[in-house]
Amino acid sequence: MLEPTHSLKLRKTRDEKARMNFVSGIRAHVLNDMANGMRAVWEADVEPEFRRKRRRGPKDGPEVHGAMKSNEYFKFYSTLRVTAQDLVWQSVFPPLDRERDRLKTDALELRRRSKLGSLTLAENFEVPRYVSAIDVHLMAGNYDGEYDSDDVTAGSLYDNGLAVFSFGLMGKNLDDIGQSIAGFVRRKFPQLAPKKILDLGCTIGHNTGSWKDAFPNAEVHGIDVAAPCLRYAHARAQAQGRAVHFHQMNAEYLDFPDASFDVVFSSMFLHEIPKKSIPRILAEAHRVLKPGGLMLHMELPPNSQLSPYDAFYLDWDSTYNNEPFYKPFRDLKPEKLCRDAGFDPKKYVQFVIPSIGWYGEKVWAGAVAQQGEVDSDKTGRLTDGVMWYSFGAFK
Ligand SMILES: C[S@@+](CC[C@H](N)C(=O)[O-])C[C@H]1O[C@@H](n2cnc3c(N)ncnc32)[C@H](O)[C@@H]1O
Repeated sequence: MLEPTHSLKLRKTRDEKARMNFVSGIRAHVLNDMANGMRAVWEADVEPEFRRKRRRGPKDGPEVHGAMKSNEYFKFYSTLRVTAQDLVWQSVFPPLDRERDRLKTDALELRRRSKLGSLTLAENFEVPRYVSAIDVHLMAGNYDGEYDSDDVTAGSLYDNGLAVFSFGLMGKNLDDIGQSIAGFVRRKFPQLAPKKILDLGCTIGHNTGSWKDAFPNAEVHGIDVAAPCLRYAHARAQAQGRAVHFHQMNAEYLDFPDASFDVVFSSMFLHEIPKKSIPRILAEAHRVLKPGGLMLHMELPPNSQLSPYDAFYLDWDSTYNNEPFYKPFRDLKPEKLCRDAGFDPKKYVQFVIPSIGWYGEKVWAGAVAQQGEVDSDKTGRLTDGVMWYSFGAFK
């Protein structure tokens, strides 16, 4: 696990650090070694048995899931992965419980001295039930749970939990997605030169700030429904010296004028949104984009572009990790979503961008030259090789 560099990082005892590293290590083992072992079991045993019985291969992820469910390796893998997920959050609670008041005071102080960016929380804001009623990916209290006024607990839980969860693959500021994608956009579309950039569902702004790094002259905005995450995001950006404007807003009903942004971005956002709300969010993105602007969503790749086994593998979270909207989203066709939101199909784009942290700048820069194929083996998941899939369209 990599230590964050900003001043809001949790102060941990040696034992607490050891526990977090241990949990990261289990996650790395499950997602690298055991995932490879499980694929080998599928190829050597379960798939041939499936073919023998049905006289054909599996059509889709659910058929692979049906065949794997009773397999001992899959059961062991799933049990360990659920346990590790629970331990991710459990490993953060002890230092967070101790540090809660210090974090709140530090965040307030950073806000009081605020010279960079802004924080705008809405009065009487209604958090959608699809956020407030679910402890998504087993995160107790979810993004919006609050202990008292000015609380930043959920933000810190997410920041530190993600660091344990991602076992170093997101970089020490957890911004590998933002750095890889914002840098890619800057190189690939130099004519875009965005003046205003919007990040939807920004949580703690860990991937929002990268847009400021890539485009220092642009005004960068992040929106989210969760107040404790936004307070933390603003303080975290301040502590990192980045000017970002954070707003409490629902992406389904944006409070920005028409044609006001050059880039509308999101990362790992749409798979946590119910299917019926996604078209509204994309239509809003279309509305607030300027003509010629770019909408880009970094996401898990769609099932239609993956083999049945990979579809099954990625959809694991939907069934076992309290991610009810994950598979329904991945069953949608990104190109159709963009068309239905008002984008010209000829202006649809789709990229597979190598992680800058994992592959290094040279390989990452090489991706600028090609519009990547979806590599079902390595796309959008934390394993041996990390690629960020993204789709969207120019307006
Ligand atoms: C998985 S997190 C996004 C993570 C982050 N963008 C990243 O790059 O890792 C999903 C976020 O979306 C927010 N969210 C959910 N529904 C929303 C909505 N309708 N409008 C704005 N934000 C929303 C949640 O509060 C949460 O912070």
